[in-house]
Amino acid sequence: MQIEQNLFGADFRNPVLLAGGTCGFGEELVEVIDLDTLGGIVTKSVTYEPRKGNAAPRVVEAGNAMLNSVGLANPGVEMVCSQKIPWMKENLSSIQVFVSVAGHVIDEYCSVVKRLEKTGGFLGYELNLSCPNDVKLGGLPFALDQEALSEVVSSVRKLTERPILVKLAPNVPDIGLASETAEASGADGLTLINTMPGLTINVDSQEAELGAGQGGVSGPALRAVGVHAVHCASKKTTIPLVGVGGIMNEYDAIQYLLAGASLVQVGTATFADPRSAQETAQGIERFCENQGIDSISDLIGAYRKDKKTEGLLGGVD
Ligand SMILES: Cc1cc2nc3c(=O)[nH]c(=O)nc-3n(C[C@H](O)[C@H](O)[C@H](O)COP(=O)(O)O)c2cc1C
Repeated sequence: MQIEQNLFGADFRNPVLLAGGTCGFGEELVEVIDLDTLGGIVTKSVTYEPRKGNAAPRVVEAGNAMLNSVGLANPGVEMVCSQKIPWMKENLSSIQVFVSVAGHVIDEYCSVVKRLEKTGGFLGYELNLSCPNDVKLGGLPFALDQEALSEVVSSVRKLTERPILVKLAPNVPDIGLASETAEASGADGLTLINTMPGLTINVDSQEAELGAGQGGVSGPALRAVGVHAVHCASKKTTIPLVGVGGIMNEYDAIQYLLAGASLVQVGTATFADPRSAQETAQGIERFCENQGIDSISDLIGAYRKDKKTEGLLGGVD
């Protein structure tokens, strides 16, 4: 049973990665799980300056989902280069590391990448484009505007030969179009999806439950949105896709693979059980063995049966 893949010029021992912002830089998790059992990790999003993040509470439960507004709390690129990357080089040398990059203007993405390029010791970048663009469009996130999306991806493309994953947001009118734009601008792969905007209100105080007010919805409630986004992207692009959103076990992950993802990421599930990603990877292997599937590539994109919905607007009522 072949669960390994070579993607972006690198070997992934299995298709399961930890999602950006849900595993820090791996340091806290090494005590609890063997990170070498994973395909890789995506770091917390890194900005140029350190950020303290938003007011507490930063995470609340929201039915079959989680709502967070962490506010990109991170130590800043200088400390990431001097402390986090050396630690990852030493301790995570056999898995693939993507450094997630965030910013509030295109120059910030570029400055972070330029600094990281001097350090090395990781495979590639994941661009978190769910950050508000402070210069254009009154703060609309980059991922929600085709022009801004194209500009930020092509600007970073000029700075690096490393693989760039572009992480897209689900709340766009046409995720297939956003995927095409990212590919045309130089993305090597797409990560679908980041959280959906959400709000929960305390009925006694009549105030938002999160310190920051609104936040991003993650967890099981997001899964169908993510699987659909991967499916739409797979029809419009040829680059590898990374599926994320609501993966709690191997069956959830396999839905993403069938929809066209080559890799998947586990986020919220790690908070409930830090072993979730590891168990998901083992479960995928078990599933393939039980089903007589020789190679994971036989699963990827095997879902193509959307004839029923062809011609309908989005295929929904
Ligand atoms: C607490 C928390 C922090 C997150 N921080 C980041 C981040 O720094 N950068 C990023 O690109 N995505 C971030 N995300 C989004 C996740 O990477 C992922 O796209 C999303 O949560 C959906 O996956 P899940 O349902 O498995 O959590 C964060 C999610 C959570 C729950």
